[in-house]
Formats: sequence, structure tokens, C-alpha cells
Amino acid sequence: MRIVLLGAPGSGKGTQAERLKAALGVAHISTGELLRAEVAAGSELGRAAKQVMDQGQLVSDAIVLGMLEKRLGLSDAAQGFILDGYPRNLAQAEALDALLARLGQPLDRVIQIDVPAERLTERLAGRATAEGRRDDRPDTVRERLNVYTAQTAPVSDHYAARGELKRIDGEGDVDSVTARIMRALERVAA
Ligand code: AP5
Repeated sequence: MRIVLLGAPGSGKGTQAERLKAALGVAHISTGELLRAEVAAGSELGRAAKQVMDQGQLVSDAIVLGMLEKRLGLSDAAQGFILDGYPRNLAQAEALDALLARLGQPLDRVIQIDVPAERLTERLAGRATAEGRRDDRPDTVRERLNVYTAQTAPVSDHYAARGELKRIDGEGDVDSVTARIMRALERVAA
């Protein structure tokens, strides 16, 4: 199964993608994790990306698309994948359409996890304390949420217009959210 998970920073994309990976036996591909690995490795790409990520802005479309294409070529993605954090603007959505058409691997479903803004801020503040992720500092979180509203929210309309989008209530405990997503996916498989 090939799935895109959409949702604001802190909506639970990464948490849910790990569970779906285990349940469905597909790859979890997080562009944020791929970028953080480059930063941790101190690569040239990582050094350039770090500054942009620390400001809460989006890394260049060309860099992220190149990284994604390479990742989709690894063997675990052949059985399917969950994209977490991509696409993040309309240009990326169009690039993904073209890439998947070329690979002959169309998406099965796009799931959007909806969580109210105040809950997102609470969750990210909690993670800042627990894990110290640099971009969870309050100023950067504000900017990430602004970027989401301006650039990523329109991506939902792109998929909704084609009847591919399913919105899920992302509030409540993690198990309940997983169950809602699994129900939405069962309807696709049926
Ligand atoms: P990325 O890593 O993708 O960050 P994000 O989209 O901001 O997402 P988060 O990881 O903050 O949240 P999430 O929705 O995955 O929630 P999570 O499960 O972690 O991107 C980081 C940066 O990389 C971007 O800002 C950008 O600079 C760059 N980047 C990445 N992709 C890019 C792209 N395509 N193009 C350009 N640039 C790109 O949960 C959050 C917290 O909430 C956790 O503590 C979790 O335990 C908790 N939580 C989860 N679910 C629940 C629940 N149901 N109840 C209570 N708490 C919960």
C-alpha cells in the first residue's frame, strides 16, 4: 500500500507512520528524518539544511525530491510506503505525481491528520522538554505552523479535488488515532 500522511507539525504523522509500518509491512519514509540524518552526519547537504530547518522554513524542493527518489529506490519501499512530511507544497505534490507515474506506483490513499492548533503547540512544547529537538523551540514552532498554513495546507486541496483525501480526527490517545486511520485504509483495500 502507498500512503501519504499529511498534517501540521505535531499532528502525529511520525508516531502514526511507525505504527502503520509495523501493521502493513511497508517502509516509513520521513523527509524530516532523512534531513536530520544528513545534519547528524555533517554532510554538505546537512549543513545547508540545518540553517533552514532551525528557522522553521522548507528545505529546497530539488534537494528534498532528490533525497526522496533515492530513498524510494531502496528495497523496503518496493512493498509500499508511507510518506511522512512530503509533499509540503504544491510544487512537491506535482513532482510526486510525476515521480510516482514514472515509477508506475500510484498512491492508494492520502490521509490528513487534523489536530487543533493549541494542541499542536502543547505537544511540541512537551517534546521540546523531553527530547530537545532544535526546531521545537517556541519561535521556530510558530514559524513552522505559519509555513504549514501558507504552503502545506493547500496540498490537501490538490488531493481532495481528485477524491483521494481522507481526513482523520487526530485528537485523543495514539491507539484511537491509529484505529481511525486503519478504518480509513480498510475502506480503500475493500
Ligand atoms: P518534519 O520532521 O517532517 O517535522 P514536522 O512536519 O514539523 O512534523 P513533526 O515531526 O514535528 O510532527 P509529526 O506530525 O510527525 O508528529 P509526531 O508524531 O512527531 O520536518 C522538520 C523540518 O524538516 C521542516 O520544518 C523542514 O525544514 C524540513 N523538511 C521536512 N520535510 C520537508 C519537505 N518535504 N520539504 C522541505 N523541507 C522539509 O508527534 C509530535 C509529538 O506529539 C510527539 O512528542 C508525540 O509523542 C506526540 N503525540 C503524537 N500523537 C499524539 C497523541 N495522539 N496524543 C498526544 N501526543 C501525541
